[in-house]
Amino acid sequence: MNDMPKKVKVSPTKAFFVRMITRDITLEDSILDLIDNSVDGAWKNEGSRPAGLAENVDLKKYQIEITANETEFSISDNCGGMSLEDAVEYAFSFGRREDDPTDEFSIGVYGIGMKRAVFKLGENISIHSTTNDQNGDRLGFRVPIDVNDWLTIHDGPWDFDLVPDNPEEQTGVRIAVTNLTRSTKVAFGNPAFIQQLARVISRDYALHLNQGLNILVNGKKVTGWEITFKSSDEFEPVRFDFVDEADGQPVSVEIIGGMAEVPPDGLEPDERGRKQDPYGWYIVCNGRIVLAADKTEISGWGDAWPKWHPQYAGFIGLLVFSAKSAADLPLTTTKRSVDRASGVFRRSRPHLGKISQTWIDYTNKRKTMNRAGDEKQEEVKKLENATVPVSVYAVQPKAAMILPKFSREVRGEKQANIAYSVPVSKARALARGLGNQNLSYREIGLQSFEYAFEDLAGDD
Ligand SMILES: Nc1ncnc2c1ncn2[C@@H]1O[C@H](COP(=O)(O)OP(=O)(O)O)[C@@H](O)[C@H]1O
Ligand SMILES: [Mg+2]
Repeated sequence: MNDMPKKVKVSPTKAFFVRMITRDITLEDSILDLIDNSVDGAWKNEGSRPAGLAENVDLKKYQIEITANETEFSISDNCGGMSLEDAVEYAFSFGRREDDPTDEFSIGVYGIGMKRAVFKLGENISIHSTTNDQNGDRLGFRVPIDVNDWLTIHDGPWDFDLVPDNPEEQTGVRIAVTNLTRSTKVAFGNPAFIQQLARVISRDYALHLNQGLNILVNGKKVTGWEITFKSSDEFEPVRFDFVDEADGQPVSVEIIGGMAEVPPDGLEPDERGRKQDPYGWYIVCNGRIVLAADKTEISGWGDAWPKWHPQYAGFIGLLVFSAKSAADLPLTTTKRSVDRASGVFRRSRPHLGKISQTWIDYTNKRKTMNRAGDEKQEEVKKLENATVPVSVYAVQPKAAMILPKFSREVRGEKQANIAYSVPVSKARALARGLGNQNLSYREIGLQSFEYAFEDLAGDD
Protein backbone atom coordinates (compact mmCIF):
# COMPACT_ATOMS: atom_id res chain seq x y z
CA MET A 1 0.00 0.00 0.00
CA ASN A 2 2.87 2.35 0.84
CA ASP A 3 4.07 2.57 -2.71
CA MET A 4 0.68 3.65 -3.96
CA PRO A 5 1.09 6.91 -5.99
CA LYS A 6 0.07 9.99 -4.01
CA LYS A 7 -1.12 12.10 -6.96
CA VAL A 8 -3.20 11.73 -10.07
CA LYS A 9 -2.18 13.65 -13.18
CA VAL A 10 -4.25 16.67 -14.05
CA SER A 11 -2.28 18.98 -16.40
CA PRO A 12 -4.09 19.66 -19.68
CA THR A 13 -2.57 18.59 -22.96
CA LYS A 14 -1.46 21.45 -25.16
CA ALA A 15 -3.73 20.29 -27.97
CA PHE A 16 -6.79 20.26 -25.72
CA PHE A 17 -5.89 23.67 -24.42
CA VAL A 18 -5.50 25.23 -27.86
CA ARG A 19 -8.77 23.69 -29.04
CA MET A 20 -10.62 24.93 -25.99
CA ILE A 21 -9.46 28.51 -26.01
CA THR A 22 -10.08 29.00 -29.72
CA ARG A 23 -13.47 27.33 -29.82
CA ASP A 24 -15.90 29.95 -28.56
CA ILE A 25 -14.57 33.00 -30.33
CA THR A 26 -15.05 33.97 -33.94
CA LEU A 27 -12.13 34.77 -36.22
CA GLU A 28 -13.41 38.33 -36.45
CA ASP A 29 -13.54 38.79 -32.69
CA SER A 30 -10.03 37.33 -32.26
CA ILE A 31 -8.68 39.88 -34.72
CA LEU A 32 -10.41 42.60 -32.69
CA ASP A 33 -8.58 41.25 -29.63
CA LEU A 34 -5.28 42.01 -31.37
CA ILE A 35 -6.49 45.52 -32.21
CA ASP A 36 -7.46 45.93 -28.53
CA ASN A 37 -3.86 45.20 -27.53
CA SER A 38 -2.54 47.84 -29.93
CA VAL A 39 -5.11 50.33 -28.65
CA ASP A 40 -4.14 49.50 -25.07
CA GLY A 41 -0.52 50.16 -26.05
CA ALA A 42 -1.41 53.58 -27.49
CA TRP A 43 -3.53 54.37 -24.46
CA LYS A 44 -0.69 53.50 -22.11
CA ASN A 45 1.61 55.73 -24.15
CA GLU A 46 -0.90 58.55 -23.75
CA GLY A 47 -0.74 58.25 -19.99
CA SER A 48 -3.74 55.96 -19.37
CA ARG A 49 -6.80 58.01 -18.49
CA PRO A 50 -10.51 57.35 -18.63
CA ALA A 51 -11.60 56.84 -22.24
CA GLY A 52 -15.28 57.72 -22.14
CA LEU A 53 -16.45 60.44 -24.48
CA ALA A 54 -13.76 62.97 -23.61
CA GLU A 55 -13.04 65.37 -26.46
CA ASN A 56 -9.45 66.19 -25.63
CA VAL A 57 -7.79 62.98 -26.85
CA ASP A 58 -5.56 62.91 -29.91
CA LEU A 59 -4.55 59.49 -31.26
CA LYS A 60 -3.48 60.74 -34.72
CA LYS A 61 0.08 59.51 -34.45
CA TYR A 62 -0.93 55.90 -33.86
CA GLN A 63 -1.41 53.47 -36.70
CA ILE A 64 -2.52 49.84 -36.83
CA GLU A 65 -2.08 48.02 -40.11
CA ILE A 66 -3.81 44.74 -40.84
CA THR A 67 -3.06 42.53 -43.81
CA ALA A 68 -5.22 39.50 -44.39
CA ASN A 69 -5.07 37.28 -47.45
CA GLU A 70 -5.04 33.57 -48.19
CA THR A 71 -1.35 33.19 -47.43
CA GLU A 72 -0.68 35.58 -44.58
CA PHE A 73 -2.16 37.55 -41.73
CA SER A 74 -0.29 40.37 -40.09
CA ILE A 75 -0.99 43.22 -37.74
CA SER A 76 1.60 45.86 -36.94
CA ASP A 77 1.35 48.94 -34.81
CA ASN A 78 3.48 51.86 -33.69
CA CYS A 79 1.80 51.98 -30.29
CA GLY A 80 4.84 51.65 -28.03
CA GLY A 81 5.63 47.95 -28.17
CA MET A 82 5.79 45.26 -25.54
CA SER A 83 8.68 45.53 -23.10
CA LEU A 84 11.15 42.68 -22.80
CA GLU A 85 10.16 42.16 -19.21
CA ASP A 86 6.44 42.06 -20.03
CA ALA A 87 7.16 39.52 -22.76
CA VAL A 88 9.21 37.27 -20.49
CA GLU A 89 7.06 37.53 -17.41
CA TYR A 90 3.46 37.49 -18.49
CA ALA A 91 2.44 38.57 -22.00
CA PHE A 92 2.63 34.99 -23.28
CA SER A 93 1.23 33.16 -20.31
CA PHE A 94 -2.31 31.90 -20.65
CA GLY A 95 -4.50 33.90 -18.32
CA ARG A 96 -3.50 36.61 -15.89
CA ARG A 97 -2.16 35.94 -12.43
CA GLU A 98 -3.53 37.91 -9.51
CA ASP A 99 -0.29 39.83 -9.13
CA ASP A 100 0.25 40.62 -12.83
CA PRO A 101 0.40 44.33 -13.57
CA THR A 102 -2.70 45.74 -15.28
CA ASP A 103 -2.68 48.76 -17.55
CA GLU A 104 -5.05 51.41 -16.33
CA PHE A 105 -8.23 52.05 -18.35
CA SER A 106 -7.26 49.23 -20.73
CA ILE A 107 -9.55 46.80 -22.53
CA GLY A 108 -7.32 43.80 -21.85
CA VAL A 109 -8.39 41.90 -18.80
CA TYR A 110 -8.22 38.12 -19.02
CA GLY A 111 -4.72 37.66 -20.43
CA ILE A 112 -5.82 35.37 -23.24
CA GLY A 113 -6.64 37.53 -26.29
CA MET A 114 -3.32 37.50 -28.15
CA LYS A 115 -2.64 33.80 -27.65
CA ARG A 116 -6.16 32.81 -28.60
CA ALA A 117 -6.03 34.98 -31.72
CA VAL A 118 -2.74 33.65 -33.11
CA PHE A 119 -3.74 30.03 -32.51
CA LYS A 120 -7.04 30.67 -34.22
CA LEU A 121 -5.28 32.22 -37.20
CA GLY A 122 -2.60 29.71 -38.12
CA GLU A 123 0.36 27.52 -37.32
CA ASN A 124 3.41 29.60 -38.09
CA ILE A 125 3.51 32.61 -35.83
CA SER A 126 5.99 35.40 -35.26
CA ILE A 127 5.54 38.11 -32.68
CA HIS A 128 8.04 40.93 -32.89
CA SER A 129 8.38 43.88 -30.55
CA THR A 130 10.47 47.01 -30.78
CA THR A 131 10.72 48.89 -27.53
CA ASN A 132 13.00 51.23 -25.65
CA ASP A 133 15.26 49.63 -23.05
CA GLN A 134 16.10 51.23 -19.67
CA ASN A 135 18.69 53.50 -21.32
CA GLY A 136 16.18 54.66 -23.91
CA ASP A 137 17.89 52.66 -26.69
CA ARG A 138 15.89 50.77 -29.29
CA LEU A 139 15.65 47.07 -28.60
CA GLY A 140 14.10 44.41 -30.80
CA PHE A 141 13.10 40.82 -30.08
CA ARG A 142 10.88 38.15 -31.51
CA VAL A 143 8.89 35.20 -30.25
CA PRO A 144 8.50 32.62 -33.03
CA ILE A 145 5.93 29.89 -32.46
CA ASP A 146 5.64 26.80 -34.61
CA VAL A 147 2.37 25.47 -33.30
CA ASN A 148 2.81 21.95 -34.70
CA ASP A 149 6.30 21.58 -33.22
CA TRP A 150 5.08 22.93 -29.92
CA LEU A 151 2.11 20.55 -29.85
CA THR A 152 4.09 17.42 -30.76
CA ILE A 153 6.33 17.66 -27.74
CA HIS A 154 3.56 16.59 -25.39
CA ASP A 155 5.54 16.55 -22.21
CA GLY A 156 7.92 19.33 -23.15
CA PRO A 157 7.84 22.75 -21.57
CA TRP A 158 5.00 25.13 -22.44
CA ASP A 159 7.36 28.13 -22.79
CA PHE A 160 8.07 29.68 -26.19
CA ASP A 161 11.56 30.75 -27.35
CA LEU A 162 12.51 34.41 -27.38
CA VAL A 163 15.19 35.57 -29.85
CA PRO A 164 16.91 38.92 -30.44
CA ASP A 165 15.79 40.72 -33.59
CA ASN A 166 16.60 43.98 -35.39
CA PRO A 167 14.58 46.83 -33.94
CA GLU A 168 12.14 48.63 -36.26
CA GLU A 169 12.22 52.39 -36.72
CA GLN A 170 9.26 52.99 -34.41
CA THR A 171 8.37 51.23 -31.21
CA GLY A 172 5.55 48.79 -31.70
CA VAL A 173 4.46 45.21 -32.15
CA ARG A 174 4.22 43.21 -35.36
CA ILE A 175 2.45 39.87 -35.41
CA ALA A 176 2.68 37.75 -38.56
CA VAL A 177 0.96 34.44 -39.10
CA THR A 178 1.41 32.05 -42.05
CA ASN A 179 0.28 28.46 -42.59
CA LEU A 180 -3.21 29.73 -41.93
CA THR A 181 -5.82 27.29 -40.67
CA ARG A 182 -8.24 26.09 -43.31
CA SER A 183 -11.19 28.13 -42.09
CA THR A 184 -9.06 31.28 -41.80
CA LYS A 185 -7.86 30.82 -45.37
CA VAL A 186 -11.42 30.47 -46.59
CA ALA A 187 -12.52 33.57 -44.68
CA PHE A 188 -9.63 35.73 -45.89
CA GLY A 189 -10.21 34.60 -49.49
CA ASN A 190 -13.73 35.96 -49.29
CA PRO A 191 -13.94 39.70 -50.02
CA ALA A 192 -17.19 39.84 -48.04
CA PHE A 193 -15.34 38.78 -44.88
CA ILE A 194 -12.76 41.53 -45.28
CA GLN A 195 -15.50 44.08 -45.94
CA GLN A 196 -17.42 42.98 -42.88
CA LEU A 197 -14.22 43.14 -40.79
CA ALA A 198 -13.67 46.75 -41.87
CA ARG A 199 -17.30 47.55 -41.11
CA VAL A 200 -17.09 46.10 -37.62
CA ILE A 201 -13.83 47.95 -36.95
CA SER A 202 -15.43 51.19 -38.12
CA ARG A 203 -18.26 50.66 -35.65
CA ASP A 204 -16.58 49.09 -32.61
CA TYR A 205 -13.59 51.44 -32.57
CA ALA A 206 -15.65 54.46 -33.61
CA LEU A 207 -14.60 56.40 -30.52
CA HIS A 208 -10.88 55.75 -31.11
CA LEU A 209 -11.12 56.39 -34.86
CA ASN A 210 -12.94 59.65 -34.18
CA GLN A 211 -10.04 60.59 -31.90
CA GLY A 212 -7.65 60.19 -34.83
CA LEU A 213 -6.45 56.58 -34.52
CA ASN A 214 -5.49 55.15 -37.94
CA ILE A 215 -6.52 51.61 -38.77
CA LEU A 216 -5.82 50.14 -42.21
CA VAL A 217 -7.22 46.89 -43.52
CA ASN A 218 -5.41 45.59 -46.60
CA GLY A 219 -4.11 49.08 -47.28
CA LYS A 220 -7.49 50.78 -46.95
CA LYS A 221 -8.05 53.28 -44.18
CA VAL A 222 -11.08 52.56 -42.06
CA THR A 223 -13.19 55.63 -41.28
CA GLY A 224 -14.93 55.73 -37.96
CA TRP A 225 -18.68 55.67 -37.78
CA GLU A 226 -19.80 59.16 -36.87
CA ILE A 227 -22.37 59.14 -34.14
CA THR A 228 -24.74 62.09 -34.40
CA PHE A 229 -28.14 63.04 -32.97
CA LYS A 230 -30.74 65.10 -34.79
CA SER A 231 -31.28 68.17 -32.66
CA SER A 232 -33.36 71.35 -32.51
CA ASP A 233 -35.36 73.20 -29.86
CA GLU A 234 -37.94 70.42 -30.07
CA PHE A 235 -35.52 67.48 -30.17
CA GLU A 236 -32.65 67.10 -27.76
CA PRO A 237 -30.75 63.98 -26.72
CA VAL A 238 -30.42 63.04 -23.06
CA ARG A 239 -26.93 63.09 -21.55
CA PHE A 240 -25.89 62.52 -17.97
CA ASP A 241 -23.23 60.71 -16.01
CA PHE A 242 -22.68 59.32 -12.55
CA VAL A 243 -20.11 57.31 -10.65
CA ASP A 244 -20.91 53.78 -9.55
CA GLU A 245 -18.69 51.31 -7.74
CA ALA A 246 -17.37 47.80 -8.35
CA ASP A 247 -15.33 46.06 -5.67
CA GLY A 248 -14.87 49.37 -3.91
CA GLN A 249 -13.44 50.98 -7.04
CA PRO A 250 -15.16 53.83 -8.91
CA VAL A 251 -16.68 53.05 -12.30
CA SER A 252 -17.83 56.06 -14.25
CA VAL A 253 -21.01 55.75 -16.29
CA GLU A 254 -22.10 58.07 -19.09
CA ILE A 255 -25.46 57.78 -20.80
CA ILE A 256 -26.49 59.47 -24.05
CA GLY A 257 -29.54 58.76 -26.17
CA GLY A 258 -31.62 60.43 -28.83
CA MET A 259 -32.91 60.54 -32.36
CA ALA A 260 -30.12 59.58 -34.74
CA GLU A 261 -32.52 59.43 -37.68
CA VAL A 262 -36.16 60.30 -38.28
CA PRO A 263 -38.26 57.17 -37.61
CA PRO A 264 -39.63 55.33 -40.66
CA ASP A 265 -43.10 56.32 -41.82
CA GLY A 266 -44.30 53.04 -43.22
CA LEU A 267 -43.12 49.61 -42.23
CA GLU A 268 -42.59 47.71 -45.43
CA PRO A 269 -42.74 43.95 -44.80
CA ASP A 270 -39.09 43.51 -45.83
CA GLU A 271 -37.97 46.21 -43.42
CA ARG A 272 -39.29 44.36 -40.42
CA GLY A 273 -36.66 41.65 -40.42
CA ARG A 274 -33.68 43.87 -41.10
CA LYS A 275 -31.10 43.55 -38.37
CA GLN A 276 -28.17 45.43 -39.88
CA ASP A 277 -29.41 48.88 -38.99
CA PRO A 278 -27.53 51.04 -36.46
CA TYR A 279 -30.43 51.62 -34.05
CA GLY A 280 -30.71 50.46 -30.46
CA TRP A 281 -28.38 50.56 -27.48
CA TYR A 282 -24.57 50.53 -27.55
CA ILE A 283 -22.51 49.45 -24.59
CA VAL A 284 -18.98 50.77 -24.35
CA CYS A 285 -16.26 49.51 -21.97
CA ASN A 286 -13.09 51.62 -21.66
CA GLY A 287 -13.65 53.07 -25.12
CA ARG A 288 -14.47 49.82 -26.92
CA ILE A 289 -18.00 49.17 -28.17
CA VAL A 290 -18.73 45.65 -26.92
CA LEU A 291 -22.42 45.51 -27.77
CA ALA A 292 -23.74 47.37 -30.80
CA ALA A 293 -27.24 48.32 -31.95
CA ASP A 294 -28.77 46.07 -29.32
CA LYS A 295 -32.48 45.39 -29.63
CA THR A 296 -32.61 42.38 -27.31
CA GLU A 297 -33.43 41.74 -23.67
CA ILE A 298 -29.82 42.51 -22.75
CA SER A 299 -30.51 46.23 -22.93
CA GLY A 300 -34.07 45.69 -21.76
CA TRP A 301 -36.20 45.29 -24.89
CA GLY A 302 -38.91 42.72 -24.32
CA ASP A 303 -37.81 42.20 -20.75
CA ALA A 304 -38.29 45.27 -18.60
CA TRP A 305 -40.04 47.23 -21.38
CA PRO A 306 -41.65 46.41 -24.75
CA LYS A 307 -39.94 44.26 -27.32
CA TRP A 308 -38.04 46.12 -30.00
CA HIS A 309 -40.25 47.04 -32.90
CA PRO A 310 -39.24 48.57 -36.27
CA GLN A 311 -41.42 51.52 -35.28
CA TYR A 312 -38.69 52.51 -32.81
CA ALA A 313 -35.98 52.75 -35.50
CA GLY A 314 -34.12 56.04 -35.43
CA PHE A 315 -33.12 55.83 -31.78
CA ILE A 316 -29.52 55.37 -30.69
CA GLY A 317 -28.34 55.22 -27.09
CA LEU A 318 -24.88 54.78 -25.58
CA LEU A 319 -24.04 53.39 -22.17
CA VAL A 320 -20.38 54.13 -21.56
CA PHE A 321 -18.40 52.55 -18.71
CA SER A 322 -14.86 53.55 -17.75
CA ALA A 323 -12.78 52.04 -14.95
CA LYS A 324 -9.15 51.96 -13.98
CA SER A 325 -9.21 48.18 -13.90
CA ALA A 326 -11.00 46.54 -16.82
CA ALA A 327 -11.92 43.71 -14.45
CA ASP A 328 -14.51 46.04 -12.88
CA LEU A 329 -16.34 46.44 -16.21
CA PRO A 330 -19.14 44.19 -17.46
CA LEU A 331 -16.86 42.69 -20.15
CA THR A 332 -17.17 39.11 -21.38
CA THR A 333 -13.99 37.32 -22.50
CA THR A 334 -14.96 37.58 -26.18
CA LYS A 335 -15.89 41.29 -25.74
CA ARG A 336 -18.95 40.68 -27.86
CA SER A 337 -21.56 41.22 -25.17
CA VAL A 338 -21.88 42.27 -21.56
CA ASP A 339 -21.81 40.29 -18.37
CA ARG A 340 -25.42 40.65 -17.32
CA ALA A 341 -24.73 39.61 -13.77
CA SER A 342 -22.43 42.58 -13.27
CA GLY A 343 -23.72 44.98 -10.62
CA VAL A 344 -22.70 48.16 -12.44
CA PHE A 345 -24.54 46.94 -15.51
CA ARG A 346 -27.68 45.90 -13.64
CA ARG A 347 -27.85 49.20 -11.80
CA SER A 348 -27.53 51.20 -15.03
CA ARG A 349 -30.30 49.31 -16.82
CA PRO A 350 -33.32 51.18 -15.36
CA HIS A 351 -31.87 54.39 -16.81
CA LEU A 352 -31.87 52.80 -20.24
CA GLY A 353 -35.47 51.74 -19.66
CA LYS A 354 -36.65 55.23 -18.90
CA ILE A 355 -34.97 56.61 -22.00
CA SER A 356 -36.26 53.82 -24.26
CA GLN A 357 -39.78 54.35 -22.91
CA THR A 358 -39.63 58.08 -23.68
CA TRP A 359 -38.71 57.23 -27.25
CA ILE A 360 -41.40 54.53 -27.54
CA ASP A 361 -44.02 57.01 -26.33
CA TYR A 362 -42.84 59.54 -28.89
CA THR A 363 -43.06 57.10 -31.79
CA ASN A 364 -46.59 56.15 -30.66
CA LYS A 365 -47.71 59.77 -30.55
CA ARG A 366 -46.11 60.40 -33.88
CA LYS A 367 -47.97 57.45 -35.36
CA THR A 368 -51.28 58.81 -34.09
CA MET A 369 -50.44 62.17 -35.62
CA ASN A 370 -49.51 60.60 -38.94
CA ARG A 371 -52.85 58.81 -39.01
CA ALA A 372 -54.78 61.96 -38.19
CA GLY A 373 -54.57 63.35 -41.71
CA ASP A 374 -52.23 65.18 -44.04
CA GLU A 375 -52.09 68.35 -41.99
CA LYS A 376 -50.89 66.61 -38.83
CA GLN A 377 -48.50 64.50 -40.87
CA GLU A 378 -46.97 67.65 -42.33
CA GLU A 379 -46.57 69.07 -38.85
CA VAL A 380 -44.54 66.05 -37.72
CA LYS A 381 -42.41 66.15 -40.85
CA LYS A 382 -41.76 69.85 -40.48
CA LEU A 383 -40.52 69.47 -36.92
CA GLU A 384 -38.40 66.41 -37.64
CA ASN A 385 -36.86 67.92 -40.74
CA ALA A 386 -35.94 71.11 -38.92
CA THR A 387 -33.30 69.21 -36.91
CA VAL A 388 -29.55 69.27 -37.51
CA PRO A 389 -27.09 66.47 -36.69
CA VAL A 390 -24.99 67.13 -33.59
CA SER A 391 -21.92 65.02 -32.82
CA VAL A 392 -22.14 62.76 -29.78
CA TYR A 393 -19.14 64.60 -28.30
CA ALA A 394 -20.92 67.95 -28.47
CA VAL A 395 -24.18 66.86 -26.83
CA GLN A 396 -24.94 69.03 -23.78
CA PRO A 397 -26.00 67.53 -20.44
CA LYS A 398 -29.76 67.05 -20.18
CA ALA A 399 -31.67 64.97 -17.64
CA ALA A 400 -34.21 63.64 -20.16
CA MET A 401 -34.71 63.51 -23.90
CA ILE A 402 -36.67 66.46 -25.28
CA LEU A 403 -39.24 65.46 -27.88
CA PRO A 404 -42.34 67.16 -29.32
CA LYS A 405 -45.44 66.39 -27.28
CA PHE A 406 -48.18 66.65 -29.94
CA SER A 407 -50.93 65.72 -27.46
CA ARG A 408 -52.84 69.00 -27.88
CA GLU A 409 -52.93 68.63 -31.63
CA VAL A 410 -54.51 65.21 -31.75
CA ARG A 411 -57.15 65.91 -29.14
CA GLY A 412 -59.38 67.17 -31.95
CA GLU A 413 -60.02 63.66 -33.19
CA LYS A 414 -63.13 61.95 -31.86
CA GLN A 415 -62.17 59.22 -29.43
CA ALA A 416 -63.74 55.82 -28.82
CA ASN A 417 -63.60 54.45 -25.29
CA ILE A 418 -63.34 50.68 -25.16
CA ALA A 419 -63.80 48.79 -21.87
CA TYR A 420 -63.94 45.07 -21.22
CA SER A 421 -63.10 42.53 -18.51
CA VAL A 422 -60.90 39.46 -18.88
CA PRO A 423 -59.47 37.00 -16.31
CA VAL A 424 -56.38 38.45 -14.57
CA SER A 425 -54.36 35.35 -15.44
CA LYS A 426 -55.00 35.91 -19.15
CA ALA A 427 -54.21 39.63 -18.87
CA ARG A 428 -50.89 38.81 -17.17
CA ALA A 429 -50.05 36.17 -19.75
CA LEU A 430 -50.70 38.72 -22.49
CA ALA A 431 -48.53 41.28 -20.70
CA ARG A 432 -45.73 38.73 -20.72
CA GLY A 433 -46.35 38.07 -24.40
CA LEU A 434 -46.12 41.80 -25.05
CA GLY A 435 -42.73 41.73 -23.45
CA ASN A 436 -43.39 43.32 -20.08
CA GLN A 437 -44.77 41.37 -17.16
CA ASN A 438 -45.61 44.60 -15.30
CA LEU A 439 -47.68 46.44 -17.87
CA SER A 440 -50.74 48.21 -16.46
CA TYR A 441 -54.16 46.93 -17.60
CA ARG A 442 -54.60 50.15 -19.55
CA GLU A 443 -51.30 49.57 -21.35
CA ILE A 444 -52.18 45.94 -22.07
CA GLY A 445 -55.41 47.16 -23.64
CA LEU A 446 -53.73 49.88 -25.69
CA GLN A 447 -50.85 47.74 -26.84
CA SER A 448 -52.97 44.77 -27.82
CA PHE A 449 -55.30 47.12 -29.68
CA GLU A 450 -52.33 48.55 -31.59
CA TYR A 451 -51.13 45.03 -32.29
CA ALA A 452 -54.46 43.91 -33.70
CA PHE A 453 -54.93 47.20 -35.54
CA GLU A 454 -51.63 46.90 -37.30
CA ASP A 455 -52.33 43.33 -38.33
CA LEU A 456 -55.92 43.69 -39.44
CA ALA A 457 -56.58 47.33 -40.27
CA GLY A 458 -53.35 49.27 -40.61
CA ASP A 459 -51.25 49.57 -43.71
CA ASP A 460 -48.57 51.76 -42.19
N1 LIG B 1 0.35 45.37 -29.68
C1 LIG B 1 0.81 45.30 -28.43
N2 LIG B 1 1.50 46.36 -27.88
C2 LIG B 1 1.97 46.31 -26.62
N3 LIG B 1 1.82 45.26 -25.80
C3 LIG B 1 1.17 44.17 -26.27
C4 LIG B 1 0.65 44.14 -27.60
N4 LIG B 1 0.04 42.95 -27.80
C5 LIG B 1 0.16 42.27 -26.63
N5 LIG B 1 0.84 42.98 -25.71
C6 LIG B 1 1.17 42.57 -24.33
O1 LIG B 1 0.74 41.23 -24.19
C7 LIG B 1 -0.13 41.11 -23.07
C8 LIG B 1 -1.07 39.94 -23.26
O2 LIG B 1 -2.04 40.19 -24.24
P1 LIG B 1 -3.38 39.38 -24.26
O3 LIG B 1 -3.08 37.93 -24.40
O4 LIG B 1 -4.25 39.97 -25.30
O5 LIG B 1 -4.02 39.60 -22.83
P2 LIG B 1 -4.55 40.97 -22.16
O6 LIG B 1 -4.74 41.96 -23.24
O7 LIG B 1 -5.82 40.56 -21.48
O8 LIG B 1 -3.48 41.35 -21.18
C9 LIG B 1 -0.77 42.47 -22.96
O9 LIG B 1 -1.23 42.71 -21.66
C10 LIG B 1 0.41 43.38 -23.32
O10 LIG B 1 1.27 43.55 -22.20
MG1 LIG C 1 -5.70 41.67 -25.03
